[in-house]
Amino acid sequence: MLNFELYNPTNLIFGKGQTEKLGQLIPQNSKILLAYGGGSIFKNGVYDQVKNALQGFEIVEFGGIEPNPRYETLMKAVTLIREQKLDFILAVGGGSVIDGVKFISAAVHFDGNPMEILHKRLLIKENAVPFGTVLTLPATGSEMNSGAVITINETQEKLSFGGSALFPKFSICDPTVIASLPKRQLQNGVVDAFTHVMEQYLTYPHDALLQDRIAEGILQTLVEIGPDVVENPTDYKLAANFMWSCTMALNGLIQKGVPTDWATHMIGHELTALYEIDHARTLAIIGPNLYRALFETKKEKLAQYGERIWKVSGTTVEEKATEAIEKTVQFFHKMGMDTKISNYTSDYKKTADFIVDRFNERGWKAMGERQNITLEKVREIVEMSY
Ligand code: NZQ
Ligand code: ZN
Repeated sequence: MLNFELYNPTNLIFGKGQTEKLGQLIPQNSKILLAYGGGSIFKNGVYDQVKNALQGFEIVEFGGIEPNPRYETLMKAVTLIREQKLDFILAVGGGSVIDGVKFISAAVHFDGNPMEILHKRLLIKENAVPFGTVLTLPATGSEMNSGAVITINETQEKLSFGGSALFPKFSICDPTVIASLPKRQLQNGVVDAFTHVMEQYLTYPHDALLQDRIAEGILQTLVEIGPDVVENPTDYKLAANFMWSCTMALNGLIQKGVPTDWATHMIGHELTALYEIDHARTLAIIGPNLYRALFETKKEKLAQYGERIWKVSGTTVEEKATEAIEKTVQFFHKMGMDTKISNYTSDYKKTADFIVDRFNERGWKAMGERQNITLEKVREIVEMSY
């Protein structure tokens, strides 16, 4: 097992009706920016719950944070906070609103051009505006981690950043909020969380036994409940297990002491930047092809995954690993994912050139747990995904 430090200060408040506690979680006399997305919170009652719980607080509202939140939009909130001297931010929404708030939080007191936070991938360790979240979409784990992904409209870039100052002070996770989610977003949530686990698990055999078992527990839970929760989001047992699995998949715990990959996400982000394909759907396209292209170095772990998650029937490592990839693709299809770029756009032939050029400019020439995902491998993975 590799050495590690585990730091996660987010106060996670989980369960039915927990939004009522909001008023006790935000420091009294705070001047709050209430940040939200395109308005789903008005239709499903979450806005009313939040406002009721925050009676007596001074609140300024900022809506319109888009899915795949835009730098240009977020900078308007930064100006608002500076002008009105607000000192707490409440994110009410899914990963996009929460990520957007992380950027706003980092940018308000940033000394310099806030775009540098993204371009230089700066680590934000201090001077962030404190914020909390009310989660409305289980998927990203952003409610309990310190990372965020922001899109710059002007340059069509989707870039990640983070830092220890960007953990939410608290996150309210009430599983009943998923009742109003469109099926597509529920499907996305399952596949995003599943792939988060895979990025931290599907590498090579190591001696962090507990980490593997926790990761497999999350994968098994998602396989068990995923197809049902998208059909029955009002079933509390399904909703609660779904929400908790998504948080656990990316709150930092399962990555401790183990090698990690993350190249599926790095390539996937480019597909969203180029074609606006939903984040989770880009992962369903790229993940299986990355496992195929990196078969030689991932096959042992693929075989373990196949045995423990899918009870594969093959006898050799290669057979088990191959079957494990096929089972994964079948699961993604069952979860309503299309797994080819051409399912989303007819103008895809230059995708590999574009992504390889971008990674080359950024110096991303050796990704993955063994730094063996070279630009040639990236090209191969993307072309396999057409
Ligand atoms: O904007 P509103 O009107 O709220 O509607 C949203 C949005 O259209 C809707 N929605 C959310 N909760 C709802 C609801 N509709 C009805 N009922 C509810 N309860 O769902 C749509 C999608 O929301 P979004 O926040 O974009 O989805 P998600 O949570 O999947 O977030 C995706 C973003 O997170 C980033 C992705 O790249 C993408 O930008 N990620 C963030 C990560 C992190 N911070 O750790 C890790 C992930 O890998 C991911 O990259
Ligand atoms: Zn993701």
